[in-house]
Amino acid sequence: MRTIFFGDVFGKAGRQTLTQSMDRIIKEYQPDFIIINGENLADGKGLTEKTLKPLLRLGVDAVTGGNHLWDRAESLEFIRSMPNIVKPMNYPAQAPGSVYHTIEKGELKLTVINLCGQVYMPPCDSPFNVFDRWYEGFADQDSCILLDFHAESTAETRAFGWYVDGRVSALLGTHTHIQTADEEILPSGTAYITDVGMTGPHDSVIGMRKHIILEKMSTGVPIRYEASDRGNQINAVCVDMDPQTRRATKITRIRQYVSPREKI
Ligand SMILES: [Fe+2]
Ligand SMILES: [Fe+2]
Repeated sequence: MRTIFFGDVFGKAGRQTLTQSMDRIIKEYQPDFIIINGENLADGKGLTEKTLKPLLRLGVDAVTGGNHLWDRAESLEFIRSMPNIVKPMNYPAQAPGSVYHTIEKGELKLTVINLCGQVYMPPCDSPFNVFDRWYEGFADQDSCILLDFHAESTAETRAFGWYVDGRVSALLGTHTHIQTADEEILPSGTAYITDVGMTGPHDSVIGMRKHIILEKMSTGVPIRYEASDRGNQINAVCVDMDPQTRRATKITRIRQYVSPREKI
């Protein structure tokens, strides 16, 4: 079975890039499941019903989060109402979002989970302990597991890859918005990449207009960020998993420039 996972879909540019590319990607890769990281859908911060619903209609099956998932106060009830929005499970129980979500298509089953790292990130519980507790109680032996590990430190993500090798079918890193070229199948069958990257405007500093970030960084004076709309790219991976063994058999990194169809 085949899954395509799109790294942090950023703002209007990211949504439009995904929208205009989805048919072509589906034709080319023929995925059974399509997952996105959606923590930056709404202007780079959080997600809303208006920004997510059109993507679900395109065929997105589930959405993972991260530290920005709850940035839009007006969307908390919407997140609570959607079982296929998966939150980092090592955040407090009160934070809206599913702890896990299993998608079933015929005989095929994929369970999606999300964890945040602790290094250079907002406070959260140990991903190691929380994952262990969840995994011990997870009874569905027929389901492959896709973990979006949302972290700043490449070392922490790499360590977590070794920690869960053989227990999840894929660990796909997100959060830095910078794609890494280290995709591989780990020895016990987990597909791994430190960061999938960002689907969105790369003529930017991780999604925000570059001149604004340069002004902030060079002067130290706070300034309001604005999402960029230039240099659009798809950053994603395609992962093949064997539903019998729940091991991954192949991971392919996708990095494509997409020229906007019209001015955003
Ligand atoms: Fe992000
Ligand atoms: Fe993040």
